[in-house]
Amino acid sequence: MCKKVLLLIMLLCLLAPARGFAEFLPEDAVLPEPTEGPGGESDAQQGGLLEEGGLLYLVNREHKARAAYQPADLTVPKVATRKKDMEQRILLRPEAARALEELFAAAKREKKYVLYAVSGYRSYGIQQILFNGKVKEVGKERAMRTVAPPGTSEHQLGLAMDVQSSNFLNLDQNFGETPEGKWVAENAHRFGFIIRYKEEWREITGYADEPWHIRYIGKAHAMAVHALNVPYEKYVEAISDLPEYVLSGATDLLLAGIARSRLAGEASPLPEQLLNANTREEQAEALRAATLPYLPEDLTYEKALWAIYPTPKPTAGPRVDEDEETHLSVVSGHAVTP
Ligand code: DAL
Ligand code: ZN
Repeated sequence: MCKKVLLLIMLLCLLAPARGFAEFLPEDAVLPEPTEGPGGESDAQQGGLLEEGGLLYLVNREHKARAAYQPADLTVPKVATRKKDMEQRILLRPEAARALEELFAAAKREKKYVLYAVSGYRSYGIQQILFNGKVKEVGKERAMRTVAPPGTSEHQLGLAMDVQSSNFLNLDQNFGETPEGKWVAENAHRFGFIIRYKEEWREITGYADEPWHIRYIGKAHAMAVHALNVPYEKYVEAISDLPEYVLSGATDLLLAGIARSRLAGEASPLPEQLLNANTREEQAEALRAATLPYLPEDLTYEKALWAIYPTPKPTAGPRVDEDEETHLSVVSGHAVTP
């Protein structure tokens, strides 16, 4: 099977333009069966968001994924692919899959753009095959500029997707110049994705411009990274000491605010209140207080929070107004309004 796949890759690379096909999965690549994690469609994880299995996990040449790492909850996003028979072969983790569906739907609704998913989850082994194929084709040094060696690809996390559009069917830098590519660059963060590789970050990421490669990190962080316009490596460095509840519950404004001053080299210790909040109520209050300095004048904290976390889980039982016979939900201490 391996030889067959290798031959196929080499054939694809021969037929393909200089860049591009290396990112496609071989037609007969062996993919794991999609599975549901414990509790159904959740991005279940044991450790923190920045650790293996977490949505913020950083992977690059210095920070490798284990060869055996494979997300347990891969699922098929309901999105279009160029060839119909690829639709069931593209996998992502559930939260990223749902976000991709929303991104593609928004492209269609807002601009009538048709986006295609090209390559999502790739195992360590598949990445090895892709990398070896590219090395054979162009030599190791050049291969390293475009294809991640095994263990260093975000595709192994099930959180990265390569996209193309019905009007531009190559995976190359020209995608960034197309209306669809520009739209993706300007809007992916609204759905929790970032453009991971830009030309100006080459020294840090190790790769040239890849306008087609988007990485899911969740809405709050993606909005912060987009606002800061920095490589993910730098962002992770700036937020790495934040408490877990801040990483999972802060607005983009707070995250960008903290990261911005740290990236500017300012000593930026976390407010005591953020560090010492223990109960959920204290944490909610600490997040609110820490965000206030970063709120634009025309925005309330509630609106900023709801823009990122539109369906917060109830923290208290429903309050029943017997007289009016109306039921109000109380969420995080605040009545929910549309
Ligand atoms: N082309 C990107 C870097 C990858 O192979 O993951
Ligand atoms: Zn990619």
